[in-house]
Amino acid sequence: MGKIFFALPGNEKLTESLAEKCHAELGKAIIRQFPDGETYIKIESDVKDKQVILVCTLNHPDKKLLPLYYLSQTAKELGAKSTCLVAPYLAYMRQDKCFHPGEAITSSFFAKLLSSFTDSLITIDPHLHRRSSLSEIYSIPTIVIHAADLISKWILGNIENPVLVGPDSESAQWVSEIAYHADAPFIILEKTRKGDEKVTISVPHIEKYRDHTPVLVDDIISTARTMITTIGHLKKAGMKKPVCIGIHGVFANNAFSNLLFAGAQEVITCNTIPHESNRIKIDEILSLSINQL
Ligand code: R5P
Repeated sequence: MGKIFFALPGNEKLTESLAEKCHAELGKAIIRQFPDGETYIKIESDVKDKQVILVCTLNHPDKKLLPLYYLSQTAKELGAKSTCLVAPYLAYMRQDKCFHPGEAITSSFFAKLLSSFTDSLITIDPHLHRRSSLSEIYSIPTIVIHAADLISKWILGNIENPVLVGPDSESAQWVSEIAYHADAPFIILEKTRKGDEKVTISVPHIEKYRDHTPVLVDDIISTARTMITTIGHLKKAGMKKPVCIGIHGVFANNAFSNLLFAGAQEVITCNTIPHESNRIKIDEILSLSINQL
């Protein structure tokens, strides 16, 4: 079955690269806003009997959702065999628990919504903390890809004598794997989040790693408070300036510049969300999974 790729706004570069790697067609669509803010969609390519791949990373998800929904529905009305959402960053995964009575568990609602209009989903390292797999909330087939190997390779090629630092117990799963393949030691800290922009972190004895370059690794850098607080502790312990690696650079507000200002030697991300810090490319591993569809 033929595949045809469509880029949602902002995803053009990755979409072109994926279509090329999959030797597939790049679809043409007009996606724009009417003067009143409503969305206009027109698919100009033939999608009949094709597998339609919609590429849309889901940071700032609220404003992306309606165009995505309209595009998927239009493709189906025009006879597409199926639609697959390729969302390198999957949003709302951190809202997975009712912490206070009355709070919405939006990760479930979001999953229900996406599952209602697309036939499959491919994503990279979704934030699975209290859930063990996407199938707990997504009713469509999902493929999860991991960036750990690519990050290990980047560390091996770019950092001398690294020690990996994971900010919390959740991070142990990927930090330990990355450290293993990068042939480096690692330590895991303990984090407590006290609010959107407030975290406390306790650091174990790290003095023995003073000759190493600390490499902070996390799945998401959002406000960057987690990394900034960690950098403060590393400074106090007399460690070298750290390199900060995030799989998904969400960078809320001034998070990126705040992180550099706090003392990060360098901030590196995967290109799951387009940003100047993108150094680790996920195009190849994504295209391999898309080809398996
Ligand atoms: C949390 O559970 C995640 O793994 C990250 O540590 C968190 O999302 C980072 O957020 P922030 O950059 O806002 O501290």
